[in-house]
Amino acid sequence: MDKNISEELKGKDFLTLLDYSTDQITYLLQLAKELKAKQKSGKLYHPLKGKILGLIFEKSSTRTRVSFETGIYQLGGTGLFLSTNDLQLGRGEPISDTAKVLSSYLDGIMIRTFHQSDVEALAENAAIPVINGLTDDFHPCQVLADLQTIEEVKGKLSGLKLAFIGDGNNMANSLMIGAAKMGIHFSLASPESYLPQTTIIEKAKEIATETGSVIEITTDPIQAVHEADVVYTDVWASMGQESEQKKRLKEFSAYQVNQKLLEHAKSDYTFMHCLPAHRGEEVSTDIIDGHHSVVFQEAENRLHAQKALMVALMTD
Ligand code: CP
Ligand code: NVA
Repeated sequence: MDKNISEELKGKDFLTLLDYSTDQITYLLQLAKELKAKQKSGKLYHPLKGKILGLIFEKSSTRTRVSFETGIYQLGGTGLFLSTNDLQLGRGEPISDTAKVLSSYLDGIMIRTFHQSDVEALAENAAIPVINGLTDDFHPCQVLADLQTIEEVKGKLSGLKLAFIGDGNNMANSLMIGAAKMGIHFSLASPESYLPQTTIIEKAKEIATETGSVIEITTDPIQAVHEADVVYTDVWASMGQESEQKKRLKEFSAYQVNQKLLEHAKSDYTFMHCLPAHRGEEVSTDIIDGHHSVVFQEAENRLHAQKALMVALMTD
């Protein structure tokens, strides 16, 4: 493993993939691969013995919570689940004070919340690494696991085409950045009023010029899926958008990933979804449960990718 990169990553925050170089992401993916093999071999490995990770959740979670908690235990450390319903943060204590106090007890913080600006404020005021476990804008931990999964399935990243169909949400943003960083061509199709923010598209395009990938944004799902190696979708109404569920069901109805749409992808396409999924909405049941789908491999890789992240950021 590259000594310089390992030094660069110590104590670093993980707020979006924008702050990570292609080499740093490659390093994390390699470490994730090694930690996965180590775990499968049954060897104990405790590089984070005595370390404590606080896990702040303002939104629900199955994968993120359980994979981070299990991951830190497997690495010899301890995880502390901190719901904002119980923290004083939920009663109005400033984020900056919370960050300073928690920094004197913990060795790292993972946070899942609504606003990216809150995660940034936490990181600015914390003396320990802060990991973004999902905001309305980004979900970088998921993308790290997704890149690991794509590499496992396809044997490479650069030069592939990834199509994202559906809402231009946190997953779309993070995948677009991750793809650009790793030289993956990225094609997104959303209804006009649900396209990702222009600023994020512009950033991705800028990165893509350096890595040789192409970022394509369209409202036409057939165009996006054309000759894709990987087809990805996510829910049409994310956490916090429950009241828009009915309206969105109607507006996204032409964007379901199903057999008919996938006829336009490469014949050996891989189907991905971060989960939780709504079968019969953004994806048909036969596709998510079919033989092209790797959704459970993706979910498992959350554990390995995040263990790599914790080792890289939290080791002394
Ligand atoms: N994919 C994902 O982050 O799942 P959870 O919401 O269950 O953590
Ligand atoms: N876009 C989804 C992802 C869940 C992992 C949400 O924010 O609810």
